[in-house]
Amino acid sequence: MVYPFATRVQSITSSAVRDLLRIIQSRDVISFAGGLPDEGLFPVQELELAYQKVFLSGGKSLQYGPTEGDSELRLLISERLKEKGIAASHENILVTTGSQQAIDLVAKVFLSPGDTVLVEDPAYLAALQAFNIYEANIIAVQSDADGMIPEDLEEKIVTHRPKFIYVIPTFSNPQGKVWSKKRREALLNLAVKHNVLIVEDDPYSDLRFTDEAPIPLAAIDTLGKHVLYTSTFSKTVAPGVRIGWLTGPTEVIRMSALAKQSSDLHTSTIDQRAMCYFLQDFPMQQHLYRLREQYKQRLDVMQAYLKKSDPNLFQWVEPKGGMFLWVSINREIDTADLLKVAVEEGVAFVPGAPFFASQPQTNTLRLNYTHASPEVIEMGMCRLMAALDKVLASRVHD
Ligand SMILES: Cc1ncc(COP(=O)(O)O)c(C=O)c1O
Repeated sequence: MVYPFATRVQSITSSAVRDLLRIIQSRDVISFAGGLPDEGLFPVQELELAYQKVFLSGGKSLQYGPTEGDSELRLLISERLKEKGIAASHENILVTTGSQQAIDLVAKVFLSPGDTVLVEDPAYLAALQAFNIYEANIIAVQSDADGMIPEDLEEKIVTHRPKFIYVIPTFSNPQGKVWSKKRREALLNLAVKHNVLIVEDDPYSDLRFTDEAPIPLAAIDTLGKHVLYTSTFSKTVAPGVRIGWLTGPTEVIRMSALAKQSSDLHTSTIDQRAMCYFLQDFPMQQHLYRLREQYKQRLDVMQAYLKKSDPNLFQWVEPKGGMFLWVSINREIDTADLLKVAVEEGVAFVPGAPFFASQPQTNTLRLNYTHASPEVIEMGMCRLMAALDKVLASRVHD
């Protein structure tokens, strides 16, 4: 059956890469593909206790709740934001079903077909998909290791009058990049000068491998007018709980709450209550130290493989946090082709091309280092190198 009118979603559905990633799940393949935390590090018992408390507290937690979210959870989130230097009152926090929903709501509020969004290049794939669904005109701003290039950004703001600028300044997906303070300030100055909104997506800042925490754009925006900030418990607690949040200019939060009403009325009251109980009792700082230590160790194992190989073969910037290693292969190679051979060898990754809003760099790939154990990462990297050797050797013989 063909549904010719379902154009919005058809334009972004299954590519060959997606189909391949689906096959991976059904086979004995080591996957560096998803943005998955390690379930072995989830605080399972503490979450179980929190959910038990929800059910012991009676039927109210199973009732409909306010769209904006559980008031106690909003208070707890606002306290966490204060620790990051973000002065968000709890009334100005919208609890969302993951930060993915926050991105979707912002798109829903602002984007009509043909409206422009400025993004980094490469950018988070599911954000690009969300903007595409609303038929936005997605324009990539030139970036380097420190963030967007201010001159190019200003030219594109003036030329395209974007509805907003979407960025992940701290340990980005896919590049694992962290913006310099100077570039953060430059972005904010331009947003103020040209009266443009910034959407700061910050799921990864708690997973840092350095002592110093990069300052969020929302903390630099002391007037609270130019930055919409979203984050999540998915990467630090567990993604299955599906709790994220959005904060920023009051009027935008109000409109986003209205948009959320037509999406899901509210985020699960059970999950929100459980998260409240969980946060009250849980030693979060200790947990974060553990995650950082574990994930850094895994990154080191992965990087050791790249460092061991021909020094001219790979190029990457060492991530200072987050979940991803972004690698360029210094050969004429399409990593979508490499993926096919890699899957036969028993390992998977995401080819870089779909992350680009402009000209795709087909010699790039994204590796996740947080899901597999160090031993499995070793095995997976061994397989990946074998796959690459095969592909490069076959091209010599061609
Ligand atoms: C950059 C970025 N934003 C948002 C999300 C969505 O996270 P969630 O909806 O689980 O909070 C992800 C998940 O991988 C992500 O990488």
